[in-house]
Amino acid sequence: MPRKIIIDTDPGVDDTMAIFFALCSPELEVVGLTTIFGNVHTELATKNALRLLEIAGRSDIPVAAGAVDALTGPFEGPVPFVHGADGQGDINLPDPAGKALGINAAQFIIEQLRAHPGEITLAPVGPLTNIALALRLEPRITEWVDEVVLMGGNALAPGNASPAGEANIRNDPEAADIVFGADWQVTMVGLDVTLRVHMTPEDIAEYATHGNPMSDHIVRILPHYRRYFESNYEAEGIFVHDSSAIAYLLDPTLFKVRRWPIRVGTQGLGRGKTWPATGGHILPAWANRPLANVCVDVDGERVVELEAERLRGA
Ligand code: BDR
Ligand code: CA
Repeated sequence: MPRKIIIDTDPGVDDTMAIFFALCSPELEVVGLTTIFGNVHTELATKNALRLLEIAGRSDIPVAAGAVDALTGPFEGPVPFVHGADGQGDINLPDPAGKALGINAAQFIIEQLRAHPGEITLAPVGPLTNIALALRLEPRITEWVDEVVLMGGNALAPGNASPAGEANIRNDPEAADIVFGADWQVTMVGLDVTLRVHMTPEDIAEYATHGNPMSDHIVRILPHYRRYFESNYEAEGIFVHDSSAIAYLLDPTLFKVRRWPIRVGTQGLGRGKTWPATGGHILPAWANRPLANVCVDVDGERVVELEAERLRGA
């Protein structure tokens, strides 16, 4: 039986790759996409999610639109210099034919978890607002979920949205602190590992040979995203954020994991930093917090190969 997942996403170039990677993996059944602000505003994230499912020929998968602002303040704004103003590398996709559900993301998550207790894994690859809202509305989702495997955070590595914080967490640190503090198993696939998963120009070029609509779309949207990495990191090609969380779901043995309680900085310069308590002495702020699985190392080449294998076979 494939593992059921809900991908909570802000598509986003790397979100797009992660969604397609999951759709091409028979071990996973995507029961829905829920959308969130981050790379773009939520309204555009929702349109993109619908459009991506149409490209994949999977309009049967429902989309539920999520929060438009963080728990305690307004969304700070999209990042067109990373993902393009359209979140899709500035290729100007036409509007989708389909529409989002009449219920919001948090309600959809609750309904699905209630209907399939123990069966669904949440895979958030954007800010954690929808997940925190679902927890607030229905705390029993911690009993109904299988696991939460998220892309976000930086335990031992520096941030990317600021020197301290990773973008998804920094967009709603209060929500992230709620999610890491809830009584469920959270696995954090953060910058500690995603910056070790490197797609070279040759890896990217190979997608152009696959000859299917998903790989063709990836080839169209990657150039803008790649320019961002090449002007900010000392490497050619891209690093693989959101798809690394999908790779963890498919094969956790590719990752080295440490188990630490996490607090999230919400103040000043440290806003958005995920702080693991790695030492023996646990301060009160970390005491009684659940242990998260924190990915600290990865077989990056294998993750890149696995994603290419799946898309090649689509
Ligand atoms: C995360 O931020 C977004 O830009 C990406 O889609 C990814 O989820 C990386 O920090
Ligand atoms: Ca994302």
